[in-house]
Amino acid sequence: MVSVLFVCLGNICRSPMAEAVLRHKIGERKLSDRISVDSAGTGDWHIGKAPHEGTRRILDQWGISYENMTARLVSSGDFEKFQYIVCMDKSNGENVRKLPGGKDAELLFFMDLLPDEELREVPDPYFTGNFEQVYDLISAGCDVLLERVIAEKL
Ligand code: 4NP
Repeated sequence: MVSVLFVCLGNICRSPMAEAVLRHKIGERKLSDRISVDSAGTGDWHIGKAPHEGTRRILDQWGISYENMTARLVSSGDFEKFQYIVCMDKSNGENVRKLPGGKDAELLFFMDLLPDEELREVPDPYFTGNFEQVYDLISAGCDVLLERVIAEKL
């Protein structure tokens, strides 16, 4: 099983959206038994909570399930469990690097999947309120990531 972890700050807006979207695309490609997805946050405020209402609303619009998803903290154990760790912004990456063993961890940054986009970080809709913009970026980036995982690991 190849495993992908998305990391953001609160684990209620961006990374759970990416988790749900990528899992949906994996299902469409009939690869659910070969690629698993999870998400986590670097901040502990929302541990155990379901995704943010804005994330839930846009996933509902697209018919994408977020069933049983709850926020959790990223931890050092994730470095062994996941082949791909994808951070939503630079500060998420810096926070992951501060974990024990994080200095040498191999991290990806979501917007590096979309090199033609001017934005170099996934904007935080918790503050911008623009969940549609984030969905568009996440859907496009997950298409690229899925092709990359298939090419590199399957
Ligand atoms: P996320 O957004 O990192 O995309 O889940 C945030 C959610 C909550 C907070 C910050 C960002 N917060 O400060 O509570």
